[in-house]
Amino acid sequence: GTVVLAYSGGLDTSCILVWLKEQGYDVVTFLANIGQDEDFEAARKKAESLGAKKVFIEDLRTEFVEDFIWPSVQANAVYEDRYLMGTAIARPCIARRQVEIALNEGAQFLSHGATGKGNDQIRFELTCYALYPNVKIIAPWRIPEFYNRFWGRKDLMEYAQKHGIPVPVTPKAPWSMDANLMHISYESGILENPKSHAPADMYLMTKNPEDSPNDPDVLELEFKKGVPVKVMNVKDGKSKDTPLEIFSYLNEIGGKHGVGRIDIVENRFIGMKSRGIYETPGGTVLLKAHLDIETFTMDKEVRRIKQGLGNRFSELVYNGFWYSPECEFVRHCIAKSQENVEGKVQLSVYKGQVYILGRESPKSLYNEELVSMDVQGDYDPCDASGFIKINAVRLREHNRLHGFSGTK
Ligand code: ARG
Ligand code: SIN
Repeated sequence: GTVVLAYSGGLDTSCILVWLKEQGYDVVTFLANIGQDEDFEAARKKAESLGAKKVFIEDLRTEFVEDFIWPSVQANAVYEDRYLMGTAIARPCIARRQVEIALNEGAQFLSHGATGKGNDQIRFELTCYALYPNVKIIAPWRIPEFYNRFWGRKDLMEYAQKHGIPVPVTPKAPWSMDANLMHISYESGILENPKSHAPADMYLMTKNPEDSPNDPDVLELEFKKGVPVKVMNVKDGKSKDTPLEIFSYLNEIGGKHGVGRIDIVENRFIGMKSRGIYETPGGTVLLKAHLDIETFTMDKEVRRIKQGLGNRFSELVYNGFWYSPECEFVRHCIAKSQENVEGKVQLSVYKGQVYILGRESPKSLYNEELVSMDVQGDYDPCDASGFIKINAVRLREHNRLHGFSGTK
């Protein structure tokens, strides 16, 4: 049969390619460009030389931004209060295209190089089953004949040497990385000890805030329907207005000022805790700006419900359920909540921080006259007396019966 392998060009998936061939499969490789720094042509040559029947390398950057990053921005998606899920949203993007290729090529099998302990295997495979119900998955890192043979990196290297797989000349970084437009994640290796600090030269997307410029960059971000449609640098007037350019520019400016680094211990879906370090410069700038324009333009009670949906969305996506009826439903509701999330936010980016400076919107629910201490507006202060007293009914009853701790 034919198998479509999610191929990275690295040692692991190169060995998997050759191993799958050994098992008798025709192997088609698929490498998605979602903004990682990679020599795609070298990867193509490598896959071809290792006997791939067909090699697909596709630029998914724009669809990654529009179909996965933008809905996450609308949701203010954050897992366990800190992680912006750059890896979690990339998996359904990659797997979706891989399924299309498999269907076009008449391939029954899909394969990937994710380990058997992580989230990625779940995200990858749930997407595949959702979009290609009859697919057969080959996950070598869960197949004893494979993982017993390739226990350590040494075994992989030996196998590579024997089978003409180019062995990396530069020593492997002592951690594992996953890079795309949204973020770079670092985990395992020397980072597995949760108390050891990451080396300063590990970070590739962001400057250390301590070494970042002493001059802020001031940006104006324009939103429509809860997603950015334009970013302008207030100092030089330069602006970007396509999704990919906007997001890349926010990465550049955020990265220059050291925005969006986190070092956390998180709960994997599988049940274990893992230590991860992430840099998400553009995503972090967008999160702050979006929260600002959203609260400015959205009804208070809608916002409360929507916030709960955003948390549900984050959990679903982290756990791999991007393509599920419940996540589709939640995305739909969130998109509906964004209809009037429109306007401009001015902010400065400086020393690892994003400072909101001001905002304006044609859809603003902010009523300067209503809130002003200097004007009456369409509001009668006397009404507040009754409002407060009605709210106090319950509290007075509680005091009568039970009192409040710490008081006499
Ligand atoms: N822990 C993060 C997550 O679950 C990052 C996973 C990184 N994946 C990788 N293949 N290196 O989203
Ligand atoms: C992996 O196991 O492939 C990376 C870590 C994860 O998926 O959580």
